[in-house]
Amino acid sequence: MTPTTPELAEKYLMQTGRRLPVTFVRGEGCLLYDEEGREYLDLVAGIAVNLLGHAHPDVARSVTGQVKTLIHTSNLYFTQPQVQLARRLVELSFPSRAFLCNSGAEANEAAIKIARKWGTRNRDGAFEIITSVGSFHGRTLAAVTAGGQPKYSDPFKPLPDGFVHVPFNDIEAIKAATTGQTVAVMLEPVMGEIGIVPAAKGYLADVRKWCDEKGLLLILDEVQTGLGRTGRWFAHQHDGITPDVMTLAKGLGGGIPIGACLASPRADVFEPGDHGSTFGGNPLACMAALTVLAVVERDGLVGHAAEMGDLLHAALMELGVKDVRGVGLMQAFEFEEPRAKAFQQACLDARLIVNAVDENSVRLVPPLIITEAEIERAQDIMLKVLA
Ligand SMILES: Cc1ncc(COP(=O)(O)O)c(C=O)c1O
Repeated sequence: MTPTTPELAEKYLMQTGRRLPVTFVRGEGCLLYDEEGREYLDLVAGIAVNLLGHAHPDVARSVTGQVKTLIHTSNLYFTQPQVQLARRLVELSFPSRAFLCNSGAEANEAAIKIARKWGTRNRDGAFEIITSVGSFHGRTLAAVTAGGQPKYSDPFKPLPDGFVHVPFNDIEAIKAATTGQTVAVMLEPVMGEIGIVPAAKGYLADVRKWCDEKGLLLILDEVQTGLGRTGRWFAHQHDGITPDVMTLAKGLGGGIPIGACLASPRADVFEPGDHGSTFGGNPLACMAALTVLAVVERDGLVGHAAEMGDLLHAALMELGVKDVRGVGLMQAFEFEEPRAKAFQQACLDARLIVNAVDENSVRLVPPLIITEAEIERAQDIMLKVLA
């Protein structure tokens, strides 16, 4: 008998995570199709990645065109898409320059290295970065140590020095943890991986003020929150502040791997030879990202995400679940009992894709192009599953 895809995966793929029992072969907009041709409504979007949904015609066209033109040259040379993308990201955010890489973890790794070099130059070799308990910054050794979830880092001890974890949304904890060794504070504006925990009103502004007072860098990880997901181009814009360093990835390439680390002139300390990436910012990924940004802008998807986020939130409130929370199209809710995983499976059986982040909480991060009718369809399925 021909082995199934899950059987082949068990034999040939390292078992780094648990997969749901479904194999997708194609997608279109907010819909995915499995090997048997069954249709699913996707409220996870490749974990907050496919901003324009699946198989968006503009992305398909530009990526195909770029594949036929130039995929990769390395960073020994200039390419036009790379420079254009850096320019666009800076125009959309704050005065800065960009380092382009391939993932969120890599973007954060760059931010951490920037902070350390900046500390060597400006703060007598200070190197400690204050981060949040429960945060998630990726899986490289430094990024996983920066993240405040020991379950992800403990198996890999000894971990790199220089990360101090404090409770999120507690400015006094940051103040108390600041010492002569501190160089930066690194935060997610909305903690995503742990199940959508937004910064409390005023928190980011208080942290910005503290960093200014003490001469620290503020690093914001907008890998999940960036590029329209929260109803603003960048989540920190809700708070009227600007970070010194910002990291992006996930949605940027519409599914093609790409990451970016932006640093303001004050923090822009990298010099030739300091950092690099063979694939980072290659013309293919940059062209995909330029197209995603152009379509988000052309189709007004930032405002649309805010509007659809409100509708999704209201739809979840009617489910009778606990603690519906979120910003824009980053929403979550809680079960009193540990039934999020069973709910996720039941939704999958009913052809709706949701994400159980743990035993109790469910996260929804759909494509920004989701429509009111699709939110109603999702609510309908969830109501049936809950009944
Ligand atoms: C806030 C945040 N930072 C960093 C990462 C890591 O990104 P990547 O998986 O692309 O390395 C994630 C991934 O979930 C994330 O949510």
